[in-house]
Amino acid sequence: MYTHSIILSLIFANLLLFSGLPPTAAAGGSWRLLQRNVGISAMHMQLLQNDRVVMYDRTDFGPSNLSLPGGKCLRDPTAKIKVDCTAHSIEYNVITNTFRPLMVLSDVWCSSGSVSPDGTLVQTGGFNSGERRVRTFKPCSTCDWKEIPLALSARRWYATNHILPDGRQIIIGGRRQFNYEFYPKDRATQNVFDLRFLAETNDIGIENNLYPFVFLQPDGNLFIFANNRAILFDYTKNGVVRKFPAIPDGQHRNYPSTGSAVMLPLKVDAKFIEVEVLVCGGAPIGSYDRANHGIFVDALRTCARIKITDRNPQWVMETMPQPRVMVDMLLLPNGNVLLINGGSAGAAGWEIGRKPVLNPVIYHTNNPVGKRFELQNPTTIPRMYHSTAILLRDGRVLVGGSNPHAGYNFTGVLYPTELRLEAFSPSYLDPEFAYLRPAIQFPASSAKLRHGQALKVGFTVPGKVDSTKLSVTILSPSFNTHSFSMNQRLLILSTGKYRLRGNKKYEVEVTIPGSGNVAPSGYYILYLVHKEIPSVGIWVQIG
Ligand SMILES: *[C@@H]1O[C@H](CO)[C@@H](O)[C@H](O)[C@H]1NC(C)=O
Ligand SMILES: *[C@@H]1O[C@H](CO)[C@@H](O)[C@H](O)[C@H]1NC(C)=O
Repeated sequence: MYTHSIILSLIFANLLLFSGLPPTAAAGGSWRLLQRNVGISAMHMQLLQNDRVVMYDRTDFGPSNLSLPGGKCLRDPTAKIKVDCTAHSIEYNVITNTFRPLMVLSDVWCSSGSVSPDGTLVQTGGFNSGERRVRTFKPCSTCDWKEIPLALSARRWYATNHILPDGRQIIIGGRRQFNYEFYPKDRATQNVFDLRFLAETNDIGIENNLYPFVFLQPDGNLFIFANNRAILFDYTKNGVVRKFPAIPDGQHRNYPSTGSAVMLPLKVDAKFIEVEVLVCGGAPIGSYDRANHGIFVDALRTCARIKITDRNPQWVMETMPQPRVMVDMLLLPNGNVLLINGGSAGAAGWEIGRKPVLNPVIYHTNNPVGKRFELQNPTTIPRMYHSTAILLRDGRVLVGGSNPHAGYNFTGVLYPTELRLEAFSPSYLDPEFAYLRPAIQFPASSAKLRHGQALKVGFTVPGKVDSTKLSVTILSPSFNTHSFSMNQRLLILSTGKYRLRGNKKYEVEVTIPGSGNVAPSGYYILYLVHKEIPSVGIWVQIG
């Protein structure tokens, strides 16, 4: 009897957890609608060091819901509508919750980018008129996009970018491009370089490994993942350094079977930095074709985690609360991972995603396997194909976009083009944790730091402090599109002793990583974390 009732309650608990029902009142986190209509659908997002977010969709699918200022119009002979006087990019100001239209001059659809060390957003590629362009956006209140024609050697559509220690970026892949290139270029790197791995993982006849997952490693190599396989790649010698085992199920995790991936937080106090990668969601092989024939297969319900610095690394499989395709994965300031957006069936592409997953899930990185997933309160807005999510300095997550249509379609479709912006506050922002929340007193915002330097961080905590549960982390804001966050990395800094400096005031000395392979030069958000509750972050510039 006893065993029986335990089994029953386990089944019941599982049903609650996995049924996709609204979570109980015990679930944490909250949602707030920020804007009903920003005029465009945020298909790509990047947070800049002035707390403004640059967003854009595409220029070739008709007028948006926001006019360009001063009667400006875009003339693009390759677009469906040749003269378009509406905006397809905006700058959203997080602090004032306002936005202004920006003007891109060519098609930025399904493109990629990185922020350079001086804080300029450098965006690459797109479609037709935009496929070989580079565009830059300097953060300032009146700045707009600048475009550099024919700046790329190859067409880049659905490519992945990563910032490099020398300040250049590498641009990897894209449709029909099994190669990579650099920007800016020098004489030695004018051309494109072959990357056979991309041809090898493009293995079922349709293009199926787009937006590969790329992470710069502390040893200077790049970890590159596509579908179920991964390599360690030396971009300076154009050579594969190491091949990792395939994820045993052989399933697909890149566009159009879009899952996502993060490099888990790096603890930089150790002599040898261990690196783990977590890949979640995706869609079984064939999902895209079947969805185009009206059969919407359940997405993958797995995450796969691997310690790539092990001598003999193996994938460890875990089970998410729901199947999930087009899931965004965001590193949170405390080292946990947020899974947000996407659906439970179908694939990425026009009209073929189904069963929106409205609940974010927090993945507790350091819990034992089986105790890592925590459901959060749901939104009411489906965020399907072409939706986005980025972490803000105050710990909230900005969520936008969702447009599985070839136009702005607001009526008569399953998931209308979304012009709304929301903020999700993970449970660490719930009021009950206010007594634990630290506040940073110094350094001043935008402090300029050198690699390897010591930095004093002062902070206050309202309640009792557990000094064994304090940490200082820095996060590089990522370029988010198609469920992947390029350049996303969270570093847990090496710290000295936490010292009391007065009533509820504390100080700690941290060391900024010495290597540009660990912390590429650029802007980071620095957080103080106490018992998994993060402070509001401050901007710092490294290098
Ligand atoms: C934007 O949408 C609103 C309704 O949501 C509509 O009234 C307005 O005319 C639209 N504006 C543009 C520029 O399309
Ligand atoms: C979206 O709207 C356009 C017109 O703006 C129309 O041609 C297209 O068929 C619509 N798509 C869907 C899926 O309804």
